[in-house]
Amino acid sequence: MSERSGPSPGEAMSEPELVSALAAPGEREVELSLRPRTLAEFIAQPRVREQLEVLLRSAQRRERPPDHILLSGPPGLGKTSLAMIVAAELGAAIRVTSGPAIERSGDLAAVLTALGPGDVLFIDEIHRIARPAEELLYSAMEDFRVDVVVGKGPGATAIPLDVEPFTLVGATTRSGLLTGPLRDRFGFVGHMDFYETAELEELLARSATILGVRIEPSASEEIAGRSRGTPRIANRLLRRVRDYAEVRADGLVTRDIAQAALSVYEVDQLGLDRLDRAVLQALVEKFGGGPVGLSTLAVAVGEERETVEEVAEPFLVRAGLLARTPRGRVATAAAWHHLGRTPPPGSATFQTGATTGRFGLASEPDLFTELE
Ligand SMILES: Nc1ncnc2c1ncn2[C@@H]1O[C@H](COP(=O)(O)OP(=O)(O)OP(=O)(O)O)[C@@H](O)[C@H]1O
Ligand SMILES: [Mg+2]
Repeated sequence: MSERSGPSPGEAMSEPELVSALAAPGEREVELSLRPRTLAEFIAQPRVREQLEVLLRSAQRRERPPDHILLSGPPGLGKTSLAMIVAAELGAAIRVTSGPAIERSGDLAAVLTALGPGDVLFIDEIHRIARPAEELLYSAMEDFRVDVVVGKGPGATAIPLDVEPFTLVGATTRSGLLTGPLRDRFGFVGHMDFYETAELEELLARSATILGVRIEPSASEEIAGRSRGTPRIANRLLRRVRDYAEVRADGLVTRDIAQAALSVYEVDQLGLDRLDRAVLQALVEKFGGGPVGLSTLAVAVGEERETVEEVAEPFLVRAGLLARTPRGRVATAAAWHHLGRTPPPGSATFQTGATTGRFGLASEPDLFTELE
């Protein structure tokens, strides 16, 4: 289901990852109904939206398919939604595939030669495309032709095939892994940022309308603040809070109901879950705030090293609660405050998302890549 370990002995089924930015199994189907269909419906990301709008309108004016588009950013911020919107705004058909699905160049050649004029080809996780297929993509993107190799060894021949003019939309959570030649062939690169709390409130209001959930603005604010700047998490928390409101109350989601529900699901004010808090607590209470090595910290919370490093830490770092130093992990002053404790003098202070309510680090893609 997610990168976190399965049910541990003595525990019932492990709880679903409420604050993971990755889609849970079956979740993409649930998300379909919440997906914005037009640029106007797409909330926030003003920069990318405006850039795309200009790109699409000018292409339409010239009656040519727009330049190839690369969308990069962390999971759950709306890359797939935007790809669908590009096609819808152009009134074009969209073909969807993904990097891992294209193992051989022949797979890609089949997809490319089946495209109609002006179609949009969406390749998700494009950084994972196999190298021979990637090379085929170069000529398709640049010259709208591909050389399909027939046969093997010395008798192999390359048959050039035309590809209809199309627009490639690539999505990646790891733009740092894209090769230079591939990246250079995109005429437009859109970087997605984490969302502000106010933007997620707007998104939640829209989702609530679609789902038929009655929600008070103060409750949207409560949920938005715990959503880690990520629409997928906001929508997921909304669904869980709705369930709670239906079972424990009359269905109306008030701030009190949202708070009660999220405390039942163990998602705190900053969007930390049980493991995140256990890591911070161990760091502060058992090791005086650190520095402490990753392995020691993992033993202290009874988890695998990888789980702590890959599941808990990225957000703790992003939120300015934990720092990775050459000597080990360190709790920042904000972490002490978050646990309701007074930081010792001289403990690390960082400008934190926790205090500004903004997690703007995605605008520095390298940082995101490093944390992954
Ligand atoms: N700007 C937005 N406005 C409204 N809803 C949004 C927006 N961005 C994302 N969403 C919602 O969040 C969900 C996840 O978005 P999406 O699948 O597009 O993310 P993604 O970046 O493709 O994620 P992944 O990297 O996991 O593929 C969508 O179903 C959609 O409902
Ligand atoms: Mg996606």
